[in-house]
Order: sequence, then C-alpha cells, then structure tokens
Amino acid sequence: MRVLVVGSGAREHALCVALSSDPAVAALACAPGNAGTARIAEAAPVDVTDPVAIAALATGWGADLVVVGPEVPLVAGAADAVREAGIACFGPSAEAAQIEGSKSFAKHVMAAAGVPTARSWPVGGPAELETALSESGAPYVVKDDGLAAGKGVVVTTDRDAAVAHGRAVLDAGGAVLVEEFLDGPEVSLFAVTDGTTVLPLLPAQDHKRRDDGDAGPNTGGMGAYAPLPWAPPGLVDDVLATVLQPTVDEMRRRGEPFSGLLYAGLALTSRGVRVVEFNARFGDPETEVVLPLLETPLAGLLHAAATGTLADHPPLRWRPGAAVTVVVAASGYPETPRTGDPVTGADGEGVLHAGTAVDAEGTVRSAGGRVLAVTATGPDLAAARQAAYERVAAVRLAGAHWRSDVALAAVEGRIAVPEA
Ligand code: AMP
Ligand code: GLY
Repeated sequence: MRVLVVGSGAREHALCVALSSDPAVAALACAPGNAGTARIAEAAPVDVTDPVAIAALATGWGADLVVVGPEVPLVAGAADAVREAGIACFGPSAEAAQIEGSKSFAKHVMAAAGVPTARSWPVGGPAELETALSESGAPYVVKDDGLAAGKGVVVTTDRDAAVAHGRAVLDAGGAVLVEEFLDGPEVSLFAVTDGTTVLPLLPAQDHKRRDDGDAGPNTGGMGAYAPLPWAPPGLVDDVLATVLQPTVDEMRRRGEPFSGLLYAGLALTSRGVRVVEFNARFGDPETEVVLPLLETPLAGLLHAAATGTLADHPPLRWRPGAAVTVVVAASGYPETPRTGDPVTGADGEGVLHAGTAVDAEGTVRSAGGRVLAVTATGPDLAAARQAAYERVAAVRLAGAHWRSDVALAAVEGRIAVPEA
C-alpha cells in the first residue's frame, strides 16, 4: 500500500512512524511534512488549504490511501476531492467535518443524538453577549464558533475579560458561543469509524494551558499522556454507548456520514460525562502518545475505515505500559512564536518534529510555535514521564519553553472525578 499523509505537525510525524512500521506499507509520503517526517517519508510540497492540489498530488504520486491530519484541509474538502479522484481517504467529508468546524453545528448534532454536553447560548451581537453571560454566570466560557486552532476559547471568572473576548470575535466577523462551565478532569477519546462501526482508541489527556499548574493562555496542547490511571472503569464503553456511537449514527441519519477519526473532548463532571467539543481528526499531541501504544498495524486499520470495512476488522491490540509526550515550544508561543532558531539534539528516538524545517545549509530550524513533541514509553506512567524528560534535556533550542509537569498530577494520584 502507498500511503500519503497530509500535514506537517508532530501528529503527522507520529502517524508516519506508526505507518512506516506497518509491513503493509510499501511507500510513505508526507505533504508538506517537516524536518522529522522527511527522514522516514518522501516529502512533497503542497498547499494544505487546497483540496484540488492534495487530490492531484495523491493521483500523481499513486497513493492507495490518503490520511489527512489537520482540520483545515478536511473542512476545506480535501477528503471529498481525494475520494472523487478514486483514492481511499481517511478523513471526513467537508460536511461531516463541520462537527469540528462549527461548534453550533456540533451542538445541533448532539441535541438530536441525545449526547450530553454543556448548555450553550449562541450569540449574534454585543447585547446578546451580555444576556448570555448573565444567564450562564461565572466561571464564563466564551468560544469562537469557528476553527481557531484550540485558541478560540476563554474560560474566566473576570466578566470584563469574557466580554472582551466575545467582542473581539464578533468584531472580527465571527460568531460566538457562551457555554455553561464544566468542572472535572478532561479526557480525549479518539474513535476510528467508517460511518457505521466505531472502534475507540485508548483515552489520553492533553495539557492545554501553556504553563505549569495549568496557568497561562490556552494553546494547541503542551503535552499528553496515555492511558489514564485515574479513569473510572468502563469509561470507554460508556462513552462509546452514550457519545460516540449515537453521534456517528446521527451523522449517518442526517445524510452526512462521518468517517475517519472522531475525537471526543470530554469533561468528567460531578453530573457525569459531558462533551466539551468534537474534533474531526487525530488530536495533537494526544496522537503522539496513543499511537506508540497501538500494536495493531495502523495502515490496515485506517484503510478499513476509509473503505467501509471496519466491521470486519479484528479487535484492536494495545501494548502494555504508558506513553508521555512533552511539547517543546518556541519562545513567544502561542501569541508570537519566534522562528528560525537552530534546533539540535532532536534526532533521537521518540523526538517527533512539529514546526521544524531544514535550511539551505542543512541546519534544522524552528518553523512554528510548537517545535517538537518529545515522546517516550515505559512500563508505567512514572517511567514514561522520566524517560520523556530525559530526552527533552538533550534538546537545544534558544528560548525554548516546555511544561515540567506533564502527567505529574496523574503520577502523583492527584486527579479525581468530582463526586455528585
Ligand atoms: P475547545 O476549543 O472547545 O476544546 O476548548 C478548549 C479548552 O477550553 C478545553 O479543553 C477546556 O479546557 C476549556 N473549555 C472549553 N469549554 C469548556 C467548558 N464548557 N467548561 C470548562 N472548560 C471549558
Ligand atoms: N490536543 C487538542 C487538539 O488536538 O485539538
């Protein structure tokens, strides 16, 4: 099988690592890729916002399967264009990707499917914003309705800050959603689906805030670990039955079947599991910890999802142990990341590249906000964590920032689901 991965982050590097170890994969390409993917996959330049260009590349390269990493190409219709070219594609149609692209669309689907989520107030203007904030009460949750790379949400007890964020989104021509605040730890649960059959992966947890102790601004994700030693028994089966399967069934019923990766961002609240958001693709950096634990060959699994044959796929097999990834970010991330700094010590095992590029002299340089996702596995979470931080210590990048507490609360047994 010739597999083309679309994207250029550490998620795509993790996908390439897993795909390249599947004996069914005869050739692998990553477009546009980064300095890390270029070591294990052919690099091909492409504009990921251009579905026609992606389909043309897939045809020209002779791909048997295209795996689309990021949400932007999916929402733009990359999977539709690839399938129209007669090539199997892992990823939802543009219509189905609205489950991530529009938070209000996702709310409609959840309401129709009876899926538990936060109460929400759609906001069209400044007066509605004030009313919605008064009704929701503090803590305030104010969201950009559209795609914002994980940075469109403000959670605050400061009403002025809530108003300022809502107004900024409205002034930029966007739509705003105010939501009920959800307490309790967050879980990212991924499921591979062909639109009918749903296979959940291992639950993971992401660290969304930039700084230790969950301080600082929301980011795309600063680190992750899997599995979750504190997760209630039966969590995955419960979420499959109450969230994932009903959502996939509802999308099919609407005539917008969702195939690809359905990512449920969940809060385990005192009143039960609630969906915080859906994403239409593998999460980043959770993928970097889930895939190293997957023993089942990845290409066969994604191909089965892309071709509607997941019902015939054998049950997933997992390696024992745990995985931790620590994101090494550029100075100034997330507001104004500095790029162009040399990166060294980034070629060892488990060092997944995100925003990196090779310059004309062959030097690897930072090229984005999240530069590396440094990953390790181990027999348990504490061991995986220690191994990941040992690898981080070998990285050299001027002004680099990373959290020193990834997976720490879980290792120390400090995470608990609130009691009702
Ligand atoms: P989202 O882009 O919807 O995933 O939101 C990003 C982050 O904001 C989530 O991972 C949560 O940490 C936080 N968040 C979003 N919605 C809520 C909510 N209703 N209650 C509490 N925190 C939230
Ligand atoms: N890790 C959060 C995301 O992928 O959206």
